[in-house]
Amino acid sequence: MIFQSTELPPFLAYRKGRLYLEELALEELGAQFGTPVYIYSAGALRAAYQRYLQAFTSVGLNLSLCYAIKANSNLSIIRLFGELGAGADVVSGGELYRALQAGIAPEQIVFAGVGKTAAEMDYALEQKIGTFNIESASELALLERRAVAVGQEARVSIRVNPNVDAQTHPYIATGRNHNKFGLNPTQSLELARYAAGSASLFLVGLQMHIGSQVLQVGPLVEAFKCLLSLASQLEVEEIYLEQLDLGGGLGVTYQDEQPEQPDKLAAAIADLLKEHQSKQPYRLISEPGRYLTANAGVLATSVLYIKQGELVDPCFAIVDAGMNDLIRPALYNAKHRIMPLHERPGALSQVYEVVGPVCESGDFLGHEVTLTELKEGDMLGLLGAGAYGFSMASNYNSRLRPPEILVDEYTARLIRHRETYEDLVFLED
Ligand code: LLP
Repeated sequence: MIFQSTELPPFLAYRKGRLYLEELALEELGAQFGTPVYIYSAGALRAAYQRYLQAFTSVGLNLSLCYAIKANSNLSIIRLFGELGAGADVVSGGELYRALQAGIAPEQIVFAGVGKTAAEMDYALEQKIGTFNIESASELALLERRAVAVGQEARVSIRVNPNVDAQTHPYIATGRNHNKFGLNPTQSLELARYAAGSASLFLVGLQMHIGSQVLQVGPLVEAFKCLLSLASQLEVEEIYLEQLDLGGGLGVTYQDEQPEQPDKLAAAIADLLKEHQSKQPYRLISEPGRYLTANAGVLATSVLYIKQGELVDPCFAIVDAGMNDLIRPALYNAKHRIMPLHERPGALSQVYEVVGPVCESGDFLGHEVTLTELKEGDMLGLLGAGAYGFSMASNYNSRLRPPEILVDEYTARLIRHRETYEDLVFLED
């Protein structure tokens, strides 16, 4: 979904100066549940899911959508997508556990990651998951041994690294040959042949994921062409694939980005599949995370102190959310819009450094943010916080991780409690 930087994401709107998510004023939720607090819109999550799926179905593609639960791993969020028919993309035993707890059918789970352990493989084999996405020859060899030991055939897809530049932040670009992810086309063919010939492995397909916050579909289409060409080569050898997995990656608007949309991606994929001659139609998988959740979430925080810096401008707005709650600004220099939860009409604008309480100068949420003059106690909302927000939160500085709230029209449900001091030390001697 694209919106102009002057507009708000769908499901967010000012009414009489107060910022609402669906039918509830965020300031009231902040007061009721305390700040900092993550607040998500069920309507926005459902709408993004339908938009993504519809883009593919409307060009005649039957998409299996496996939600990348790393974006937002709360059980209620996974359950919400599960109820809409989603499977899950998981990258650890912990994420697999969450997906199963949320009721995702094992056969709708794909398991990615360069460093799966034997214990994680055993767990996933016992649960009979849909697909292991394989990223190295050693991993495939271990999976084969574990499949024999567990007595359960492993369904395998090879993650191809097509050496395509996704043109995103280097930390979240994964499709170039200097990245640790996937296998080059030659290695991919070798492993696919090996898996196809193994008694305890079952080769289901090929997978790709070239990066995250990808704003143009061009690189995704390039990478998919590479998958199709490998599929053709395998067919010549009478190795037939059931599925092709596009990975995730489509970007969203945080400030003024204009990301290309799923309909453009789906149309390009449909065209390529039409040109491609294969013995049977493929099951197409996609693993979106950010697209489904980013703009459905707000991190609400309160201004603790206003402090004039040594320099006249800007002044510091010290808020109660920090880099432990939302690490994206510090880690990727990401820019989340910061909006007052209650506008003060007529107030003068001022430039602020919006910073948290953590003991690091890297603990900022926004640089040079222009806001109408703030007072201590005012609440602010960080937009676009529904993806890689809470899921990347930590207890650094022994801070308690915030609660999470799911808004559905007029109701607000606490879907994760605020941690307590007892929670902090629970596992320690
Ligand atoms: N599939 C695989 C194999 C992935 O590694 C990822 C994300 C996804 C799907 C979902 O990608 P998405 O649709 O969300 O772009 N923490 C970073 C993002 C890291 C993404 C890692 N992999 C951030 O906050 O920007």
